[in-house]
Amino acid sequence: MIGRHRHLIGLEDLSREEILQILTLSTSMKEVLRRPLKKVPTLRGKAIVNLFFEASTRTRTSFETAAKILSADAVNWTAATSSVSKGETLLDTARNIEAMRPDVLVIRHPAGGAPGFIAARVACAVVSAGDGAHEHPSQGLLDLYTLAEHLTRVGGAPPQAPPDFDTLAGKTVTIVGDVTHSRVARSNLHGLTKLGAKVRVCGPPTMIPPGIEALGASVHYHLRPAVEGADAVMMLRIQHERIGDPLLPGTREYSKVWGLNERKVKEWLKPSCAILHPGPINRGVELSPEVADGPQSVILEQVENGVAVRMAILYLVSGGAPDQSTEGAARA
Ligand code: CP
Repeated sequence: MIGRHRHLIGLEDLSREEILQILTLSTSMKEVLRRPLKKVPTLRGKAIVNLFFEASTRTRTSFETAAKILSADAVNWTAATSSVSKGETLLDTARNIEAMRPDVLVIRHPAGGAPGFIAARVACAVVSAGDGAHEHPSQGLLDLYTLAEHLTRVGGAPPQAPPDFDTLAGKTVTIVGDVTHSRVARSNLHGLTKLGAKVRVCGPPTMIPPGIEALGASVHYHLRPAVEGADAVMMLRIQHERIGDPLLPGTREYSKVWGLNERKVKEWLKPSCAILHPGPINRGVELSPEVADGPQSVILEQVENGVAVRMAILYLVSGGAPDQSTEGAARA
């Protein structure tokens, strides 16, 4: 259980304490991930099914890796090679997979609300791996973990010190891009504000949803004032399927006005400002290659932390007891 929750559908549903429960356990999981022999028997006998109705590199691979490190059996299911192509519905698909007695269904779906819909209709635990423009909770959690790790280092802690999640309080994080269609932005907004960070959102007016201030964000339509003084900048992916939408700028204009290149990073960002991106990156659009691979980028740290955070999530929703989790989960 994550606090009082059997499923993980979104960070909107979690309290600050429940978010901290996952993040704190992730530190133990990261220690396991970094061992030369990265295998613990914690979830032996448990079955995890990844139900992906959309493409994925990072999320699916890291849920599978997380399950295998914890000795669970992981099965990958993709819509393209399934009976969805013969017209089987989402609910029938989930019920048939459930009949095979998995302990956890990890679901990615293009429709917002799909994981919550299934969670209400199956007996096993459900974890959202991203649903439409709703939420991507494991991405939000790995971003919080990566930010806390970065801020702990910037605060003077030794490189191997565990992240101090209190460091997020009062810090400024700027989210740049198509906020309207971004499940990553929404999960981060819920998570960051619950941990006390100040969130700025920035992008063309057509990409900022009305009423976003109600979630605790300040809105900016110019990049420079939005990123100046920020402790971290999170660049969102421009979705290829939306390029050509008359409400959005073209890629060249987007890159010029809203993208980050070396000059802007040097002149506008604090030297300690972390640059995040959930991936996949459109190189030369949101980020120049030099910035994506540069010293302020923590993008590959996000990917590594994604495995640790997903180990913690799978452990908790598979029945791990919160009070035993840290020692129990990491026991070799
Ligand atoms: N960040 C993310 O969700 O990446 P994938 O689509 O590759 O899983």
